[in-house]
Amino acid sequence: MAPSVLAADFGQLRSEMERVDGHVEMFHLDVMDGLYVPNLTFGAPVIEWVRPAVDAFFDCHLMVCEPLGLFEALAKAGADHVTLHTDVCPDPTEAGSLARRLGMGFGLALSPAVAPAVIRPYLAGLDMVVVMSVEPGFGGQAFIPETLSKVETVRRWIDEEGLDTALQIDGGITPETAPLAAAAGADVFVAGTAIFGRADPVAAVGMLRRSILSAMSPADSG
Ligand code: DX5
Ligand code: ZN
Repeated sequence: MAPSVLAADFGQLRSEMERVDGHVEMFHLDVMDGLYVPNLTFGAPVIEWVRPAVDAFFDCHLMVCEPLGLFEALAKAGADHVTLHTDVCPDPTEAGSLARRLGMGFGLALSPAVAPAVIRPYLAGLDMVVVMSVEPGFGGQAFIPETLSKVETVRRWIDEEGLDTALQIDGGITPETAPLAAAAGADVFVAGTAIFGRADPVAAVGMLRRSILSAMSPADSG
């Protein structure tokens, strides 16, 4: 589970994260520059302020025009991983090496209109592939079911190549849509509204987990 803090109360971000920390594998941090997407969130300084209070892995989803320029500051602030969109990452091999030199994992994100073939040549060098199931920019949008076939395709490639690449689904994840993504082959589930938009975010995490396990065969979930 990867709660997206985009749906948290930014006025008390640290305590919102502390409340859920210990119940999740990672936090999903949507860094937006107001140019690549028409929304502006936060960058390294905010990440640096919350980092000491939180143990979980920091997964940074960069929706910015110049992502490479942020790597060093993000790494210093305590980011564990960066994911870039394919259209602002002309050289994924170089971007991946830079991220790793700075001690971070590296992934590529597919916006709804981008075909998975774009990432195939780089797959073996990625720690994570993110299939976006909404248009990047805002939380609270409806899940786009047509993106599930991309999850299936990328899952097939990962398995065929014997890789351990994480396959993340991002956008519109709820107890109704999470099982669909799990059945298609996703193994990291970003959820903003379905976690921080609920009165009890920890209970919401549990509900999402149960919905995902229900989509797996008894052999898998055991
Ligand atoms: C959208 C972001 C998502 C967003 C998901 O650009 O990448 O991570 O926070 O929010 P929900 O879960 O509300 O769709
Ligand atoms: Zn995201």
